[in-house]
Amino acid sequence: MNPGTRDEAGQAGESLVSTSNVDHVSGAQPLADPHHTGIADGISPLGLALVTGGASGMGRSTVEQLARDGFQVILVDRNGPLAEQEAASLRAQGLNVDARAIDLTDEAAVRALVRELPPLRALVNNAGLFDERKFLDVTNEDFRRIYEINLVAVATLTQEAARKMEDGARIVNIASRAYLGAKNHPHYVASKAAVVGYTRASAMELAPRGILVNAIAPGLIDTPILQALTPERLAAQLALQPTGKAGRPEDIARAVSFLVSPNMGFITGQVLFVDGGKSLGGSGS
Ligand SMILES: NC(=O)c1ccc[n+]([C@@H]2O[C@H](COP(=O)([O-])OP(=O)(O)OC[C@H]3O[C@@H](n4cnc5c(N)ncnc54)[C@H](O)[C@@H]3O)[C@@H](O)[C@H]2O)c1
Repeated sequence: MNPGTRDEAGQAGESLVSTSNVDHVSGAQPLADPHHTGIADGISPLGLALVTGGASGMGRSTVEQLARDGFQVILVDRNGPLAEQEAASLRAQGLNVDARAIDLTDEAAVRALVRELPPLRALVNNAGLFDERKFLDVTNEDFRRIYEINLVAVATLTQEAARKMEDGARIVNIASRAYLGAKNHPHYVASKAAVVGYTRASAMELAPRGILVNAIAPGLIDTPILQALTPERLAAQLALQPTGKAGRPEDIARAVSFLVSPNMGFITGQVLFVDGGKSLGGSGS
């Protein structure tokens, strides 16, 4: 497999080496399901949660976990068909999940979505791109493309959501262990370090309203995004894992569940590493 930008979502639950090819949908499009009338259907005890990149990987697991916790969940993803498929499958299990097809780099669509929704109780900024590219080959356009989704979209959604968010709400940003330093993706590393900085700034700004903002720094997690790695790079990464294996999307979902829980009331501006100990070695690969 050739290295390069992993810019298409795959089927949730695929293995590390699986391939996928799905459509992208841009613009805000509520996904009509004739058997389901949308967010007015029921009131969940924990309130409304929005999870970006919820159609695949750890986002998909997080949507399910938060819905099982008792949130009413809005799953946002640019892959409209997959988003609706996953939401429908969770609704079939009795969970309160709706999908919205949006490219999160479309600022107007993001702001319009948030204005349409009731105030959020939890926001999980999970959607992101990963890219393998040698240090001397990375272009300014590579930086801009990664930053648009990994940072600018996070800031747009967080700002718009914060305008009318419930006091005491929770925000979780998915960064990466790689923000500590890693080879062959300087633009990705920098974008995730920026997410950590933005998390800390947001935590300071929103603390007076009791809104707690934290980041999770996943290590290697078995999701479709890892298709950007060659098999050789993937094997090398796994060899560096203290635990000797990749994490599962559910490992991240459970960490998010803790950070958005009403029982978690005094942690803000922190980075929680969920990486099987990879960060113990510092810069890693
Ligand atoms: N898997 C890992 O090893 C790993 C490690 C560290 C951090 N992360 C981070 O975790 C997050 C989730 O990654 P994953 O591994 O679950 O990947 P994934 O590819 O399985 O899921 C990402 C989802 O985000 C969606 N998405 C991407 N760009 C979008 C856009 N512009 N608008 C709307 N939706 C968009 C995709 O369609 C996809 O459904 C990312 O931010 C990633 O950088 C992943």
